[in-house]
Amino acid sequence: MKNNYQKNITKLGLAFVVITLFSCREKNGLAPEYMPDMYRSPSIEAYVDYGEVKDKIHTEFSDKMSARTPVKGTIPRGFVPYSFENTPEGYIKAGETLKNPLASNENDVKAGEELYGMFCIQCHGKTGQGDGILVEREKFPPLPVKFNPGLDIAEGKMFHSITYGKGLMGSHSSQLNQHERWLIISYIRTKFMNEIKSVVPTDSVQTAQVATQQ
Ligand code: HEC
Repeated sequence: MKNNYQKNITKLGLAFVVITLFSCREKNGLAPEYMPDMYRSPSIEAYVDYGEVKDKIHTEFSDKMSARTPVKGTIPRGFVPYSFENTPEGYIKAGETLKNPLASNENDVKAGEELYGMFCIQCHGKTGQGDGILVEREKFPPLPVKFNPGLDIAEGKMFHSITYGKGLMGSHSSQLNQHERWLIISYIRTKFMNEIKSVVPTDSVQTAQVATQQ
């Protein structure tokens, strides 16, 4: 009696497994779902678009992602748009019109030196002669630019190049906000190009604080 009971249970169990295994037929690429919450979490997903299943778009599930691209024309708080285009004309215009808003006082230069040491020194080198460690170890070709007193380059052009990148140098706009870019320019021009700004020294670190990304 007990044996029969056990056998029946085993048979039932097997049948259940077989039915479960073969019951999931796909229709239009979308299989019937047992406990769909396990596939499609009811919690808000930042980057998952559940509408895409096996390369097909199922509109009933799509468009539920929480991470959204910003509405066109909007800017984040504190963001200061950069109005010159990444073109040769934009480069020239930036050189003609953009001026360093900082007084390039001692504090600015010091802050700029610190940032230079983090983002530029590996290529441009300690003395600005393009003898950074990457160039020294031949990981990067020699730089065509040396930060010397004789270097004829407008500060606006420098800002433009740091923002968009130039030649083999990449853009630094995502790492450095506008204020930080000017701080580095203050450092380069004061220490390597021997330039002394004739602006009345103010606490420029505070006045230019509003400037942020690109
Ligand atoms: C990976 C190497 C690398 C790094 C890092 C780098 N640069 Fe450069 N930089 C270059 C190269 C190469 C050029 C020459 C670009 C050209 O004229 O083709 C250049 C050119 C420049 C110029 C001259 C631009 C012009 O308009 O002629 C400035 C100014 C400059 N870099 C500033 C910086 C500053 C500031 C940083 C740090 C925030 C920095 N660079 C980081 C490689 C680098």
